[in-house]
Amino acid sequence: MAGPIAVTGGAGFIGSHVVERMLASGHHVRVLDNLSTGHRANLPAGLDGTFETGDCTNAAWVREALRGCAAVIHLAATPNVQKSLDDPPEILHNNIQATACVLEAARRLGIRRVVLASSAGLYAADEEPPHHEEMTPCPGNPYAVGRYADEALAGVYSRVFGVDTTCLRFFNVYGPRQDPSSPYSGVISVFCRRMLAGQPPVIFGDGLQSRDFIYVGDIAAACSAAALSATACGGKAVNVGTGRSTDLRQLVSVLNDILGTTTQAQFVPARQGEVRHSRADTRRASALLGFTASTPFHVGLKSTVSWMQTAV
Ligand code: NAD
Ligand code: UD1
Repeated sequence: MAGPIAVTGGAGFIGSHVVERMLASGHHVRVLDNLSTGHRANLPAGLDGTFETGDCTNAAWVREALRGCAAVIHLAATPNVQKSLDDPPEILHNNIQATACVLEAARRLGIRRVVLASSAGLYAADEEPPHHEEMTPCPGNPYAVGRYADEALAGVYSRVFGVDTTCLRFFNVYGPRQDPSSPYSGVISVFCRRMLAGQPPVIFGDGLQSRDFIYVGDIAAACSAAALSATACGGKAVNVGTGRSTDLRQLVSVLNDILGTTTQAQFVPARQGEVRHSRADTRRASALLGFTASTPFHVGLKSTVSWMQTAV
């Protein structure tokens, strides 16, 4: 492919895995990040590409930073649901404005492909799984509303301006470099950290709620497939999940197996307004991108635990 692949948010949890994967497959990368939640240390020491520090909500800066790129994988956002409930305008501004700037830069620079991170949070809380892309979105919080707006904008850029866009709806991502320090981090990172410290994981509700947990290496593979695909996606949304779900009691049990412990969970009242069960219909990802998640759950969890044992 002529020109580097740009990864916005490349210093973050998911972005750093995307960068690693693109480099390993011989591509040049250009990382755009404002380091608001990302870290330079997430990236390989001798990054074979460029690192541009700046804000994707600045249209002029984004246009310069993306000049010469062949495709963009746009991950820069604040993916914090709680913050979006506390301060909706700030999160909506950051996430939607960044997407608008990236899409507009792609149009002006003639970049043929933009892959955007979207979220399974678009699906209605009462929708029965498997969740498929034709279901009518019903975002449950301002963060998810922002992702919905980003998808709509990406559709316009595909249909009206000829920038081919693909909106990847990530399900529950886990893996090395996911920050466990906030109580609103993904449940796997929070449970790993507590159980490694010999503390009980705290389950909100009965623990029978389930999620489609997908390993971050598989997310990177899906991003790569979408960026490099010969087939145009025309602004379509594509689920990126495993098609399988695990409940929180099972999660604690697998973690106990890996750690060789018998830690019992502590149960507290459920969070209000949550999705009960979430699981991706994966047929479109397979048909359009040739993508199927391949990391078995216990393998992904082992790798997450190993990372946390050394890094946190
Ligand atoms: P993260 O916070 O680790 O990464 C986001 C990166 O974007 C960070 O490096 C941050 O510094 C950067 N960033 C934020 N705003 C920016 C801006 N205005 N300009 C430049 N850089 C900016 O989060 P993550 O979990 O890696 O999420 C990556 C993407 O995946 C996000 O778009 C998120 O909405 C999406 N997503 C994540 C999950 C999940 O389970 N982690 C699920 C669904 C969707
Ligand atoms: C996740 C995403 C959210 C996205 C949504 C889309 C994270 C942090 N959140 O929310 O951005 O919009 O998917 O599907 O990735 N739980 C506990 N104990 C804990 C932590 C969590 O019991 O210590 C429970 C939660 O109440 C929930 C489940 O674990 O029932 C999963 O929680 P979480 O990892 O926060 O993800 P989602 O709520 O699915």
